[in-house]
Amino acid sequence: MTRPTYRIAPSILSADFARLGEEVRSVIAAGADWIHFDVMDNHYVPNLTFGPMVCQALKPHAGATPIDVHLMIEPVDALAAAFADAGADYISFHPDASPHVHRSIQAIRAKGVKPGLVFNPAQPLDVLDWVIDDIDLILIMSVNPGFGGQSFIDSALRKIEAVRRRIDATGKDIRLEVDGGIKADNIRRVADAGADTFVAGSAIFGKPDYQGVINAMRTQLA
Ligand code: DX5
Ligand code: ZN
Repeated sequence: MTRPTYRIAPSILSADFARLGEEVRSVIAAGADWIHFDVMDNHYVPNLTFGPMVCQALKPHAGATPIDVHLMIEPVDALAAAFADAGADYISFHPDASPHVHRSIQAIRAKGVKPGLVFNPAQPLDVLDWVIDDIDLILIMSVNPGFGGQSFIDSALRKIEAVRRRIDATGKDIRLEVDGGIKADNIRRVADAGADTFVAGSAIFGKPDYQGVINAMRTQLA
């Protein structure tokens, strides 16, 4: 199986919230492939970030760069539809946050947006038995959701390997994204486990030279 091209998806959770439009433009100019947009509701996770209006405001700054919305919210469906209207290109949600996962996936797809599922460190993959053919993205959390700047949880590597086997068995182009604690010094291990899309928040926005970090990551992936 030839691996799809690697994608770097900086998370704006670690960006300067007073200059988000500028930050999005800068990180895209520095080589970002996607913009990872972490939505937190202080219910599903103990933190609160931004909603569809901020996504809509940032859309013109992102231009053609896909906005990869990660919903850490419960319930899912109403806000997923609002993010679709606000310009999201991917919308992923946690299956444990929706009582009707298959229907939530269908509703996102019906809005013309690519649906994805997100798995927390202790969350089993079983739901993929029934919906893997309906999604375009599987997001594996390598930290517990809610905060940037945490350390990579090594058990995620085994889960990434298991998801890579499941994706290859479908023969479909489903992206395998990993989220949390990704740095230039561990991205190779995560790619070797089978990931092709990498979220990085504090590794990039915490540094003065976005391009330098993204280039270092790409060098590790080459
Ligand atoms: C955590 C978010 C992650 C986080 C990644 O709940 O889903 O996307 O922003 O941040 P780092 O790369 O700093 O771990
Ligand atoms: Zn995220």
